Amino acid sequence: MNEVSFFDDIDRVRQTQQPMAPDGTGTVAIGTPTLRIDALAKVTGAARYAAEHGDRDVLHGVVVNTAAARGRIVRIDASRALALPGVIDVLSHLNRPPMRSLDLFYKDMTAPAGSPFKPLHDDEVFYSGQPVALVVAESLELARRAAALVEVEVDVVPHETGIHGGLVRARDPSHFKVGYTPPPKPRGDADGALLAAAHTVDAEFYAGVEHHNPMEMHASTVIYGEDGHLTIYDKNQGSQNCRWLVSRVFGLSKDQVTVRNAFVGGAFGSGLRPQHNLVLATMAALKLKRSVRVVLTRQQMFTFGHRPETWQRVRLGADASGKLMAMIHEAAAETSRKEDYVEVVVNWSSQLYPCENARFSYQVVPLDQHSPMDMRAPGAAHGVHAIEVAMDELAHVAHIDPLELRRINYAYRDIEKDLPFSTKALSDCYDLGAQRFGWQRRAAQPRARTEGHEHVGWGMATGTWDALQMFARVRATLSHSGQLLLESAASDIGTGTYTAISQIAAAEMGLPLEAVTFRLGDSTLPVAPIEGGSAHIATVGSAVHGVCEKLKKELLKRAKAVDGRFAGVRLADAVWRDGTLVCRRTQAALPLGALVKANGEDRIEVQYLLLPNVLKQRKFVRAVHSAVFVEAKVDEALGTVRVTRVVIAVAAGRIVNPVTARSQIIGGVVWGISQALHEETLSDHKLGRFMNHSFAEYHIATNADVPEVEVLFVEEDDRIVSRFGAKGVGEIGIVGVAAVISNAIFHATGKRIRSTPMTPDKVM
Ligand code: MOS
Repeated sequence: MNEVSFFDDIDRVRQTQQPMAPDGTGTVAIGTPTLRIDALAKVTGAARYAAEHGDRDVLHGVVVNTAAARGRIVRIDASRALALPGVIDVLSHLNRPPMRSLDLFYKDMTAPAGSPFKPLHDDEVFYSGQPVALVVAESLELARRAAALVEVEVDVVPHETGIHGGLVRARDPSHFKVGYTPPPKPRGDADGALLAAAHTVDAEFYAGVEHHNPMEMHASTVIYGEDGHLTIYDKNQGSQNCRWLVSRVFGLSKDQVTVRNAFVGGAFGSGLRPQHNLVLATMAALKLKRSVRVVLTRQQMFTFGHRPETWQRVRLGADASGKLMAMIHEAAAETSRKEDYVEVVVNWSSQLYPCENARFSYQVVPLDQHSPMDMRAPGAAHGVHAIEVAMDELAHVAHIDPLELRRINYAYRDIEKDLPFSTKALSDCYDLGAQRFGWQRRAAQPRARTEGHEHVGWGMATGTWDALQMFARVRATLSHSGQLLLESAASDIGTGTYTAISQIAAAEMGLPLEAVTFRLGDSTLPVAPIEGGSAHIATVGSAVHGVCEKLKKELLKRAKAVDGRFAGVRLADAVWRDGTLVCRRTQAALPLGALVKANGEDRIEVQYLLLPNVLKQRKFVRAVHSAVFVEAKVDEALGTVRVTRVVIAVAAGRIVNPVTARSQIIGGVVWGISQALHEETLSDHKLGRFMNHSFAEYHIATNADVPEVEVLFVEEDDRIVSRFGAKGVGEIGIVGVAAVISNAIFHATGKRIRSTPMTPDKVM
């Protein structure tokens, strides 16, 4: 087997790198706008994705999905498929290699409570689209043809899909999931305060199902080594999570499996859990002792999880001045019959606006479909939508400017947890965003402005998301030529991790960016978490920051040993500049490479394990915030909405790289526009099946739907969340965007739309 090594890949990427800093020197600080170091590799094809690895010997696996929504498989007839020359095997629960049976082995690091899906494990069908067989053939075309010839007969039993009929069955979920926080406990007398309030709002919200559609479809290429070792190129957000799952499912030792994800073409939640393509490709490789690749088709991207259909009701009561007296926020979301998929939906309301009389609930409705799945800002994308539209409604009935209402109810502390925020520059976001947008010129009443046949409306909303930090280890190797290699099993799902993390090290060590290489995306590297929750920069970035400090201490120690001018120099007096260590007082300078060689070695290797300072962190609420302002133009005759202007001000700690951070925010806003106006997967409930499972019928925002997005960063310096002051920006960009568009449509037309997407039939 002719396996191209991962490190060859990185070397090829290095060769395509350009000096990235604006001055061409490669010198960067934290905050220097820096182009992606992997940009050229990505646009030239040098960067390879999961389905692009392996040689001609790799077999092609194509998934056969069931149509039935619930039942038992009574017959699988693969004879017509197997009769085609070049078809190697058709795997199903009847002839698969041994797999572990207990749920325990199928629980990945992000699994919710319940029983995870076990692909091809037995005859049970529990959702429409479930993989029930894998055809393996010499070519992709042959495998696809053969897959169409596999006959699957299911003994069906009645199913139930769609949240509306199931709301009566809504129940409290099992709370066991890492990172899940149940709703706040009730406080005061919310119902009594609501009755006594001067102004009230009672609003119901509904959000349809959305599916993940990253550019790169989910894929796994399993390279079967001569010794039986499996090297798996897989599209995911955490190589170690996938390695852990696969080795347990098939009873393999840790050393028998390596998972790599050096390049990922977007994921945003779809790669947090290992998907069935990984298990199926591994299963086939083990059975056939051959290399196998499984790539899901675009339509099969609709067969493994989705943002859950969600119902919400928000009741708000305020006194005559607009101060919140009562808040009741309830939500119910779908889950599968197998697992209690949970999201933090209603808690954000409690955290955003202090209210003494409040009640919250979050329940789940089990349905006959695949478990829902995290999608960019899971929970907040729905919960903050509801509270931000409800606040807009309250502003209207109370005759208070929507932005002023937010200021009146500004949370300086979290009143439920009785804690301060680590940093919170939201009020600066309000000021800066409003000023740049020209908010003070907004007419108080709706329907005040028309242009031709369009009504013009302005809306605003608040966004918030957690500022998380997890644990990670980084290994740093400094060579005698002054090259710094950083290694950690982190991921870059397209977010700019390679660049931002390298930039932190270059800035700390005073090295040109070209002298820093960051190797990630390999399960054999030092432990790192999944790239999710917008936590990678505060986590892996802090680990890199820590390893650099350790390296600097070692280098200074060596400088003292070889050069008397460094006697008594403390770390604080050392300046790291242009690949040299300089003493601030004496200006004595030594190249780092010379210090590496001082002990007769050709390299220095140090490691650093970052563990969050939980004792310090628990004294604060840690969050990122945004203020979004939008102009929308609505044609009531056609029901069309055009978003014509977006200003978003974001407070997310120090911004390491404004170029990639801005891209993250823009990406979030684009998805928010898409969620607001386009995206919804519709089911035929009689069949229990998603119907518009293709780009022809599942609409997403395109360039024509997206105006110039102005991104403003309000810097904070948050040393509680990270060692160097940064928080994450991966998810905050989408939060509140659907709300702000709803609010702008109301301002344009006087019509309130509380369900997403806000399609022409609802706008008309
Ligand atoms: Mo994010 S939904 O944690 O990838």
